[in-house]
Amino acid sequence: MAEQPTAHEPAATTDAAFLRALPKVELHLHIEGTLEPELMFALAQRNGVTLPWPDIAALRQAYAFVDLQSFLDVYYQGAAVLRHARDFYDLAWAYCERAAADGIAHTEIFVDPQTHTARGVSLDVVIDGLEGALADARSRWGITSAIIPCFLRHLSPEQAAQCYADCRRFGDRFVGFGLDSSERDHPPGAFAEVFAQLRADGYRAVAHAGEEGPAAYVREALEQLHVDRIDHGVRCLEDAALVRELAARAVPLTVCPLSNVRLGVVDRMSAHPLQRMLDAGLHVTINSDDPAYFGGYLGDNYAAVREAFALDRDSLSRLAANAIAASFADGARKAELTRALTSVTG
Ligand code: ADE
Ligand code: ZN
Repeated sequence: MAEQPTAHEPAATTDAAFLRALPKVELHLHIEGTLEPELMFALAQRNGVTLPWPDIAALRQAYAFVDLQSFLDVYYQGAAVLRHARDFYDLAWAYCERAAADGIAHTEIFVDPQTHTARGVSLDVVIDGLEGALADARSRWGITSAIIPCFLRHLSPEQAAQCYADCRRFGDRFVGFGLDSSERDHPPGAFAEVFAQLRADGYRAVAHAGEEGPAAYVREALEQLHVDRIDHGVRCLEDAALVRELAARAVPLTVCPLSNVRLGVVDRMSAHPLQRMLDAGLHVTINSDDPAYFGGYLGDNYAAVREAFALDRDSLSRLAANAIAASFADGARKAELTRALTSVTG
């Protein structure tokens, strides 16, 4: 049940304050997906890049996505305005400001190197800008972070291996690697070799699976890529044995509720499988995916599921605790985050 308003404290304020105060961890956030229309147009002007939309209103009209690919087409075109380290700094700083306002204490951000290197922007430029902003956010708000480059699965495994070789130069400045982009007809198993290599080199591994693709892709990501977390994974519910295995092994699933509604993975929030996933004992976390495109940052995602499923404080705290446990932060930081969570939840 949602809380009842009292004379002194309207329920919305109380719930919002509780959500804001929860020390939140974000594990599924594409930094290119935080590019707000205003910044996109400002960077286009700064860099002399011509966008396919005449103005912000026209761009927003293009946000009527019908599936993942219709979103990716816009997302990749938007990313073309990012050319210099300062652009990546501005992008990540804008995200960090939102993260601070949302009460995010730790964030693990995805970046798509191939989207930029294909346009002649070196990975050094990308990472210089991102790391600058993340370092400043740590100094200013104490937000800790990690960077997870993702391979684009619509490109070949050979291209992923080339991307990995480029990324390898950065050593432990990356915590792990992921797999994203068009899921349909791009099974994760095709990338088994590069994932075996990166895991042998000591990196963590994650992969998008079971967003639009079938439950079999979730199993494949586990068995062939040996991932530590599954990104999305909502379609795992189509395979009861897989659900039992994910629950027994406490495999974290980085669920993105507003994204799933906007990309038509589910019809509406009330039809989202989140409650069923929790009831099945799955290790669910809440995330924002591409918040500039999907109508909300992490706090909005928590608020949306709280509202749709009348989640109480224990359930919201459980989701926040799951994210701490599933993060790639070191033990000391996890303990700190857990203490901060306990101080809010009691
Ligand atoms: N890249 C950015 N957002 C994505 C998503 N939701 N699924 C797959 N690839 C992505
Ligand atoms: Zn994603």
